[in-house]
Amino acid sequence: MTLLLIVGATGTLGRQVVRRALDEGYRVRCLVRSFKKAAFLKEWGAELVPGDLCDPQSLPPALIGVTAIIDAATNRPTDSLSIKQVDWDGKVALIQAAKAAEVERFIFFSILDAQNYPDVPLMEIKRCTELFLSEAGLNYTILRPCGFMQGLITQYAIPILERQAVWVTGESSPIAYMDTQDVAKFAIRALSVPETEGQTFPLVGSRAWSAEEIISLCERLSGQEARVTRMPLNLLRTMRHVSRFFQWGWNLADRLAFTEVLVTGRPLNAEMDDVYRVFGLDPQETTTLENYLQEYFSRILKKLKELDYEKNKTKKQAGKRSPVKKS
Ligand SMILES: NC(=O)c1ccc[n+]([C@@H]2O[C@H](COP(=O)([O-])OP(=O)(O)OC[C@H]3O[C@@H](n4cnc5c(N)ncnc54)[C@H](OP(=O)(O)O)[C@@H]3O)[C@@H](O)[C@H]2O)c1
Repeated sequence: MTLLLIVGATGTLGRQVVRRALDEGYRVRCLVRSFKKAAFLKEWGAELVPGDLCDPQSLPPALIGVTAIIDAATNRPTDSLSIKQVDWDGKVALIQAAKAAEVERFIFFSILDAQNYPDVPLMEIKRCTELFLSEAGLNYTILRPCGFMQGLITQYAIPILERQAVWVTGESSPIAYMDTQDVAKFAIRALSVPETEGQTFPLVGSRAWSAEEIISLCERLSGQEARVTRMPLNLLRTMRHVSRFFQWGWNLADRLAFTEVLVTGRPLNAEMDDVYRVFGLDPQETTTLENYLQEYFSRILKKLKELDYEKNKTKKQAGKRSPVKKS
């Protein structure tokens, strides 16, 4: 049976790739930094191997017997490591180890339009990694998403439900978000479609959404008004330059640079007809952003109602039990 190595399996996308691969009957091995954090993947039926992209020696043992690699790893903003250490040095090490181990297939997640932003570190690193992979002599497929619907929960849905501020930059590019479950579906399908070998594809949702449109949709679905706070672009740029002076700020500065992508106003979107045709997938089965958020809000509002009901019930019972004062 084909053995897949999934890197970044504990991440937002990686876990969906693991789920889909297991559901489709693949044997799955996950390269993980912490067994404790990855325990749920083992419960699902995946094998865990210890490893770190920034420790090249940990990679060859993880690759023994592996047919294909799906790499969904990226630097965590909370890590002390830099984007360059993980997304460039680490990925170069992984690609070289894959080549040495004669892995038959390598699926890599890049970012849509990375070539248009040479001054944004993560974008430039993605462009260079695409190039490095395509010249490494491996049988690769590069997938280029532009944003995951899962990120919208912390960015918009939760602050609106909790009546906290929703932060937006002055003018932001509309983004064609995709559900990570759909992204995972394409990644696993690539393994069995020879036309995807040596090719690069965009992976985007059915349409691009601006921040304002997402906020209105969340307001409608939650029945609550958002408290929108606009972050001036110049303030973000200043923060980026100031944080560069401090080592602790390098990671932050690289992330703030990403706002340069969002403020161009240029939509992050792509034509998907050919992609669906090549992969043999049906666009009607891809989750729309309306459906994704509707599902989220109805689930969460139902839970809140239940909690409220339980709270009132406990209060009433406590009221009945408390002794009535006699005058
Ligand atoms: N998020 C988006 O909207 C978006 C948009 C376009 C493209 N992408 C691309 O899609 C892919 C998945 O992104 P994501 O948002 O799902 O990532 P994520 O949730 O931030 O997860 C990152 C994963 O990488 C792992 N990782 C980090 N450093 C590592 C290291 N040194 N060695 C081994 N593993 C390491 C993390 O493991 P730990 O759990 O141990 O930290 C985690 O499993 C990435 O290539 C990303 O660039 C994402």
